[in-house]
Amino acid sequence: MFRRIFLSLYILLYSCSVTLSNEIKTNLLPARRKCGQHEEDRIFGGTKTTIEEFPWLVLLKSANNGFTCGGSLINNRYVLTAAHCVSEDIVSVRLGEYNLEKDEDCEGDDTPGLEYCADPVVNVEVEERIVHEGFDSRDRNAYGDIALLRLKKEVNYTKFIQPICLPHFSELRTKNFEGKKAVVAGWGRTEKKWESEVKLKVELPIQSNEDCSEIYQQREINIKNSQICVGEKRERILVKVTVVVL
Ligand SMILES: *[C@@H]1O[C@H](CO)[C@@H](O)[C@H](O)[C@H]1NC(C)=O
Repeated sequence: MFRRIFLSLYILLYSCSVTLSNEIKTNLLPARRKCGQHEEDRIFGGTKTTIEEFPWLVLLKSANNGFTCGGSLINNRYVLTAAHCVSEDIVSVRLGEYNLEKDEDCEGDDTPGLEYCADPVVNVEVEERIVHEGFDSRDRNAYGDIALLRLKKEVNYTKFIQPICLPHFSELRTKNFEGKKAVVAGWGRTEKKWESEVKLKVELPIQSNEDCSEIYQQREINIKNSQICVGEKRERILVKVTVVVL
């Protein structure tokens, strides 16, 4: 359970919480109204998404192991993901996916011609892998567990392929999210298999770093201010999410 949530969490949270330096070329990122847009279905609690929700979610494909992780599209050339997901082995990404088991993703009326179907998926090769310089895969604290993938080709946006927003606005960069809810979306990969063949979403509370530190201390893991914690406290499955402050 812990691992599943950990692996799927970064997909959205990394994308909501990266703090960017002042020198960032924000003109390379989509304008505020041109990102984070999707037809949202406001039912939460570990449910399937619709085929249109979270159109920035991508799957990372490894040369030998199929899809091993997820990520978020942040503009037409870059995918944000976790550093622990990135190795030389990651060769391409898949965009516009919904059901891993089906060639065509449709919903609504089952009558042929009346169902609503997503466009075919788009696979794009990875040109460059950029892992945060502070990341050390042997360090259990997982500081700087964030990475970018540069794609070989520019992606064309559709209803099923859209970029997420990065919080490069000062009010978000300094905001305390404690007590707010985070939405986690993805397919939920475990070590052995995909937890779900369809895209899922769940709403989870954001916890204070103090509470999180207490729980993680037992595992000899230190929480830094550049990380935030998400999850239900009573289940002791708090998940830490690295937020990289540049
Ligand atoms: C985007 O559209 C252009 C023009 O139709 C096409 O050449 C290009 O291959 C498309 N990009 C991707 C990643 O499919």
